Amino acid sequence: MKDTYAVFGNPISHSLSPFIHQEFAKQTNQEIDYLKIEVPPDQFTEHVQAFKKAHGKGLNITAPFKQQAFELATIHTDRAKQARAVNTIKFLSNGEILGDNTDGIGFIRDLLEHHHVYLKDQKILLLGAGGAARGILSYLLEQQPQLLTIANRTLQKAIELADEFHSFGNITSTSFEALTNGFDLLINATSTWLSQVQFSLASIISSSLFCYDLKYGKETQFLNWAKAHGSIKMADGIGMLVEQAAESFFLWRGVRPQTIPVIKLCKKKLHYS
Ligand SMILES: NC(=O)c1ccc[n+]([C@@H]2O[C@H](COP(=O)([O-])OP(=O)(O)OC[C@H]3O[C@@H](n4cnc5c(N)ncnc54)[C@H](OP(=O)(O)O)[C@@H]3O)[C@@H](O)[C@H]2O)c1
Repeated sequence: MKDTYAVFGNPISHSLSPFIHQEFAKQTNQEIDYLKIEVPPDQFTEHVQAFKKAHGKGLNITAPFKQQAFELATIHTDRAKQARAVNTIKFLSNGEILGDNTDGIGFIRDLLEHHHVYLKDQKILLLGAGGAARGILSYLLEQQPQLLTIANRTLQKAIELADEFHSFGNITSTSFEALTNGFDLLINATSTWLSQVQFSLASIISSSLFCYDLKYGKETQFLNWAKAHGSIKMADGIGMLVEQAAESFFLWRGVRPQTIPVIKLCKKKLHYS
């Protein structure tokens, strides 16, 4: 019997995870089953336990269940503890549920290895203070930027996040209205791109600013907006998606797949060109 994995989320129909993991399996000569399961919002725990009982080996977890997955896991990796969110579960042979978070490592690998954006002594502006922002913060600060500023609709959340990660590096928070310019990297980790934010940000865009959207797609709203305001260096989150999946695959299977060919296949599937 093949080992079975799945991605749990709601909605989930758009998920590329089954495609990505089957490509990794082909590439590394393994046979796995990988399912896509839409879980009703109030039935996450029951679904995880049922999957475990049916001898499932591991799960990817996407919105809106990453926090619930963190609470359900019985042991956590350090990076999951830091993110306080779990996007990868491994069912261990002793019955424990291991919770990991591969979003941060996926993001930084994409930024450094595929886009060659180096952060030492740079100024970074991070938009958003949700789960994804929390997951990438320590990886950003590890690169020793001159300053990392978090801006968020709910300012209090940005303040709390900056306080929490204070010991990792030079980090501060601001409201969108109080933003000034001079940044080298602008990262969008919000889930909705709204006009009130666009208005406050228009003045900070320049041709030297690199814009990274955690959302992926041929044309994301954020990157279209950045382009319209003069940005010429940008990336969407497709590389992050494949890199975080590769790290999950490594945790489950002990083999590290090559990501560049799979990024290319995903872009083809989504009609990037
Ligand atoms: N490429 C990848 O592999 C990958 C991996 C993980 C996540 N992501 C993407 O990252 C994004 C964020 O995910 P998440 O898990 O962090 O979501 P989340 O925890 O729900 O956080 C959402 C963030 O967006 C802000 N926001 C929501 N609606 C807004 C609005 N109308 N105007 C301004 N700000 C708004 C929230 O601000 P408040 O605090 O004020 O509510 C919060 O900061 C999503 O688009 C997700 O798809 C991509």
